Amino acid sequence: MNLILLGPPGAGKGTQAKRLEGSFGLVQISTGDMLRAEVKAGSPIGLEARAIMERGDLVPDAIITAMLANRVGQADAANGFILDGFPRTVPQAEALDRMLAEKGIRLDHVIELKVDDAALVGRISGRYTCVQCGAGYHDTFKTPKTIGVCDNCGGAEFSRRADDKAETVAARLAAYHRQTSPLLPFYGAQGKLSAVDGMAAMDIVFAALSSIVKP
Ligand code: AP5
Repeated sequence: MNLILLGPPGAGKGTQAKRLEGSFGLVQISTGDMLRAEVKAGSPIGLEARAIMERGDLVPDAIITAMLANRVGQADAANGFILDGFPRTVPQAEALDRMLAEKGIRLDHVIELKVDDAALVGRISGRYTCVQCGAGYHDTFKTPKTIGVCDNCGGAEFSRRADDKAETVAARLAAYHRQTSPLLPFYGAQGKLSAVDGMAAMDIVFAALSSIVKP
């Protein structure tokens, strides 16, 4: 089972991809996480991507598609993957179609998480992550059981993303509407698109996604 989660910044793609990964044995492939790892490592890709990401713009298609082509070919993706944050432009989607056709891989579902723009800034500005294990939390919607202690690993250090400031979120949202939303008719025309109400509580969103993903 190979799927794409589509949706604006803060729609819940990462949250749900992690849950689907755990329940269905799929691997989450997040181009945002891959880019943040490149930035942290100070690699040539990271050096180029850093300022672009902090402005809320999209990293050039050529960099992203080359990075993704390596990743989908790795052994852990053979049982199925969830693309989170890719594709984000029509040229990326066309490159993905070619890449999958060459490798003989089928794309089963493209699922849009529909969320009102007004809810997104609150979701993103409240988000933080455990530095030690990467578990995600939110000031209001997903607090750890003991405040200041990670449920998953017991870590006590947390960080917030550099691009989660309100002004950058506005730029990221504009990029979504301008460059990524054309993917909805693109995949609609392929008969692969379905939509889930991303405004619902996390468990309800997960149940809706599971009913699509279940064989
Ligand atoms: P990326 O890392 O992909 O960020 P994004 O798409 O902007 O998405 P987010 O990670 O912000 O949100 P999400 O939908 O995963 O939401 P989450 O689950 O965390 O990309 C970052 C940057 O990298 C881009 O701006 C671009 O520069 C670059 N980039 C990446 N891919 C690229 C590509 N393909 N091409 C070019 N450039 C690329 O949830 C958000 C918060 O809400 C969390 O705190 C969560 O707890 C909470 N929440 C989730 N669901 C719910 C719910 N149902 N109810 C209440 N709260 C909820």
